[in-house]
Amino acid sequence: MDADEETKKKIRANLNGWKTPQIKSCFEPIAMAQKPVEHTYLSNIIKHNMGLFNTKVKIGNNMYPSNVFTVDSINGLIDKTFLISKPTKKEKGEHNIHKTVKPLAICEYLIRLCAFSKDAVILDPFVGSGTTAVAAKILGKNYIGIDSNKEYVKIAERRLRDVERDKKENLFSDIEQRQEKFQLELQVV
Ligand SMILES: C[S@@+](CC[C@H](N)C(=O)[O-])C[C@H]1O[C@@H](n2cnc3c(N)ncnc32)[C@H](O)[C@@H]1O
Repeated sequence: MDADEETKKKIRANLNGWKTPQIKSCFEPIAMAQKPVEHTYLSNIIKHNMGLFNTKVKIGNNMYPSNVFTVDSINGLIDKTFLISKPTKKEKGEHNIHKTVKPLAICEYLIRLCAFSKDAVILDPFVGSGTTAVAAKILGKNYIGIDSNKEYVKIAERRLRDVERDKKENLFSDIEQRQEKFQLELQVV
């Protein structure tokens, strides 16, 4: 803006709290699409390991399939069925500066819903800070993530390393817990 510092300061003070009219995004569609099936869905999944949805995958209050998720609570009844928490700082990773990190639960849900084969490869061509890849790794699936922003790729890689570290830590604490239990059982004997 073409004005001296004093004028800018006055304008800023006068417009304190007023922003450009960008209303918060409160609706985000997720498109589910697939190639045309070969013959029936059944023959398609037998041949290509793809095409069916897993009806055992639930969300909210044991619902399948849910067409709506919400990340803001609305009321008890609706929340019980549709609420998915916003990603916490811990979930995003401490150094994650990406502006639109998806909730891990949504990515896990979508992968579990349609990735039938244990060798399935989850491809996210706009992986950002890596939530889809993190979800795939947690679920033991292969993944490929692509992003045009190198900084985001680094964040995604870091989050993926954190998953690896957490897995190892959990494994060790699991072993320690079992050892403790075993020692207790020995003492009882
Ligand atoms: C909505 S964000 C993805 C956020 C991600 N799901 C997460 O949880 O962090 C979309 C991403 O697409 C990336 N992007 C935009 N145009 C792209 C392009 N042409 N090729 C690759 N990545 C692109 C952006 O850098 C951005 O990180």
